[in-house]
Amino acid sequence: MTVSSAPGKVYLFGEHAVVYGEPAIPCAVERRATVSVTARDDDHVRVRAEDLSLNGFTVEYSGSTSDRPDVDVPAPLVEAAVGYIDAAVEQARDAADAPDAGFDITVQSDIPLGAGLGSSAAVVVAGIDAATRELGVELSPREIADRAYQAEYEVQDGQASRADTFCCAMGGAVRVEGDDCRTIDAPALPFVIGFDGGAGDTGTLVAGVRDLREQYDFAADTVETIGDIVRRGETLLADADPDEDPSDEFLSELGGFMNFNHGLLEALGVSSRSLDSMVWSAREAGAHGAKLTGAGGGGCIVAIDPTPETMTALRFTPGCEDAFRAELATEGVRVEEPPETADPAGDGDSFTEESA
Ligand code: MEV
Repeated sequence: MTVSSAPGKVYLFGEHAVVYGEPAIPCAVERRATVSVTARDDDHVRVRAEDLSLNGFTVEYSGSTSDRPDVDVPAPLVEAAVGYIDAAVEQARDAADAPDAGFDITVQSDIPLGAGLGSSAAVVVAGIDAATRELGVELSPREIADRAYQAEYEVQDGQASRADTFCCAMGGAVRVEGDDCRTIDAPALPFVIGFDGGAGDTGTLVAGVRDLREQYDFAADTVETIGDIVRRGETLLADADPDEDPSDEFLSELGGFMNFNHGLLEALGVSSRSLDSMVWSAREAGAHGAKLTGAGGGGCIVAIDPTPETMTALRFTPGCEDAFRAELATEGVRVEEPPETADPAGDGDSFTEESA
């Protein structure tokens, strides 16, 4: 058995605009997806997912493919998760030149599904790493990022940027502009995440922005302005000492850019009432800045606050289901120790999806 994990991420700046060639800066955070893979003797793939959870998010399947899961996660999200795993398997088979390789796969994740924290990218990245290693092939994190991007691109019908997958594979803060992906220095930013318990549909949200952009010049300008904010944020980060705690002055300027970025995402129609209300709670509690993260429509916001105030305020905000602090994850994809009592092919009470 081979076990790999990859972190989730928040967008400091630039989601959506990155799809149109503007730069974006996502940062990996210490919430990980872990994928365990055991090669099989036949060409079947059996997937079992456990603990796809965060406060009430629990996926439980039992039996075979024909059983639909008994879950409080919407079925399309679970189906999407299975789609990402299938795409990761195809990439691993291709990388190892083993088109008929079969696997037992177990996915565990503490990143909420579809909530803007990069759950799908983390599962795909960790899945490709574990499956290729299980076949005796070791890919570099950049190669994994590239293959994970191809997998996401396929599942999202060509509407994916490299940002999520590159960040999850490499860890730390990264800058992505089209195909140009690089890691950048960043100080330890005091991220606080608020989660509304929901999720947006990335494909629909991306399509909505694309339509607006095609219809109105001012929407296209809005997308370009997000790119301008990212460039200013990038300059600010480059001037900061990555080994020092960031100053209040630095955090205020960075937070101001985040606020601006959120306003433009709101204008592009990808925020929601619960996301806006968490953003405003965070600001009123004294956060230096707050914005939605990821595709939007529901899910998570990210705020910057070194004090406990924002987290406390978020926990009392109607519509906020959970709030937590998230450290920058300096490590991207990595190999983990297999659990001693692992039973990847077991008939446990989690979901199981089998295909040839
Ligand atoms: C989704 O996490 C981020 C988007 O920018 C889409 C993408 O970059 O693929 C909305």
